[in-house]
Amino acid sequence: MNKINLKLKEQANNYPSLQLSDRHLCDLELIMNGGFSPLAGFMSKNDYISVVNDMRLSSGLLWPIPITLDVDDNFASKISNSSKIALRDKEGFILAILNINDIWKPDLEFEAQSVFGTNDLKHPGVHYLLKNSKKNYIGGTIEEVSSPHHYDYTNLRHSPDELKGIFKNKKWNKVIAFQTRNPLHKAHFELTKRAMKELNANLLIHPVVGMTKPGDVNHYTRTRCYKHIMNEYPKNSAFLSLLPLAMRMGGPKETLLHAIIRKNYGCTHLIVGRDHAGPGLNSNNEPFYGPYEAQEMLEKYQDELGITMVPFKFMVFIPKSGKYKSIDNVIDGEEYKTLSGTELRQLLDKGEGIPEWFTFKEVAHELELSNPPLIKRGLTIFFSGLSGSGKSTLANGLLTKFLEEGSRPVTLLDGDIVRTHLSSELGFSKEHRSINIKRIGYVASEITKNGGIAICAPIAPYEEDRKYNRKLISNEGGYLEIFVNTPLEKCEERDSKGLYALARLGKIKEFTGISDPYEEPKNAEIVVNSSGESPEKLVEKIYEEIIKLGYIERVK
Ligand code: PPS
Repeated sequence: MNKINLKLKEQANNYPSLQLSDRHLCDLELIMNGGFSPLAGFMSKNDYISVVNDMRLSSGLLWPIPITLDVDDNFASKISNSSKIALRDKEGFILAILNINDIWKPDLEFEAQSVFGTNDLKHPGVHYLLKNSKKNYIGGTIEEVSSPHHYDYTNLRHSPDELKGIFKNKKWNKVIAFQTRNPLHKAHFELTKRAMKELNANLLIHPVVGMTKPGDVNHYTRTRCYKHIMNEYPKNSAFLSLLPLAMRMGGPKETLLHAIIRKNYGCTHLIVGRDHAGPGLNSNNEPFYGPYEAQEMLEKYQDELGITMVPFKFMVFIPKSGKYKSIDNVIDGEEYKTLSGTELRQLLDKGEGIPEWFTFKEVAHELELSNPPLIKRGLTIFFSGLSGSGKSTLANGLLTKFLEEGSRPVTLLDGDIVRTHLSSELGFSKEHRSINIKRIGYVASEITKNGGIAICAPIAPYEEDRKYNRKLISNEGGYLEIFVNTPLEKCEERDSKGLYALARLGKIKEFTGISDPYEEPKNAEIVVNSSGESPEKLVEKIYEEIIKLGYIERVK
């Protein structure tokens, strides 16, 4: 149960309220529980400038990445230095009071360049800073009212003091932390076991369950996997605890942050691998940081931080012996096996099963449950095209094909249906069309998440909105865009609703293709033109393409 400081809560009710974002909530939790010690609040301007420029707090202590509270202009204009605000979670619960020291406008481009070494938006940390962060920072100390509310895995969440107490009770003097944002497999199990043996130490599996890299396996699935793997370690040798950190994917600098946090949680060692906390590839398809930059960084500062790095050795499977060994011990010509993240995803997509040499069968089962093969996974089929291009006819035809096939529930979100039931108050301005398409995207993403098929058929004239939906829905399952590329002349000739004629007369304003733009999809998986072929043939053609893309099984 969360302890609440009722006196502070009562005071806080009189202060202006700020609703915290997911990242703020993670940061606040680690500020309040001591995971971010010595931080006692969101950074003041002095500390921020010092961290951005010199990687140190103004006190001189090492600190690699700013921990800041960003607010919009409207909120900033309502508060002043030395005032207090109440920090609330999304449900409105007051978690803390912030005693404001500073309010300032940071140079976010400079921060990105300085902290992450780049302004490339493909870096998730930079993207967050330049696209999500509000334009004002407020710094100040925190007074805790209540720790953030969690309803999941409550017995696996610990504050640094709790964890230190547990280690003390277990008489664990040397604890190696293993940081992860991925499911663990046999290679990780082997390397952690080896590290424990070599250092005669115990192990803390300390996965991040706050915010990780977009597209990662969700923490519910991961935690079920971790729980299975914990049964494999010798009794009383390893412990699992979940860390509510919001990762910045800051590579070497983030590695320092991970080390500071683990030191605060009572660990003596931290395992650091190749490309630790790596942000992926940049716009030129090159890595942002060198593969061993993170290790070099921690090596340089480990004494100052008082935690020892255990460099991670990449483990590979040797089929001949049926054992794992470190890649640098593989002898010339010796056969070995590894499986990349992409290869693993491909196996899951095809439903081919994850090999036993790679992972424990319970872990494989969890991953297969949450990533069913494409033929069983939720899917959105998003038609786009001019009015009269044939979208609705094809979408209806496809609907009946799926109903006949019967593998998944299917819903049709045709333009007219949506405009009647979801968007009846909207018109056809750019802004309203955008809202309309995003509503469709939201509903489709929910259907997809829950394993159904959503067929959408609006005009969706703007690339930006289609891109938004693609990203949203791809996180939940399959996504296919079908561009119905019927020429405008043909659509106008059909003019079944008589709207083109009215648009030409200027009686309907902002009509797509006549007085409003249609940006042709450039990345559609399937392109059809309904002017030359019958709808039956086109539906067959589309259905055949969907089979080829792996989302439906061919009926034998
Ligand atoms: S959008 O742009 O995606 O939000 O449009 P959508 O929701 O698909 O609605 C398109 C249908 O509304 C009718 N209609 C118009 N279309 C385009 N521009 C204007 N100004 C307009 N006014 C009404 C038109 O019949 C479209 O239906 P479809 O089924 O596409 O022919």
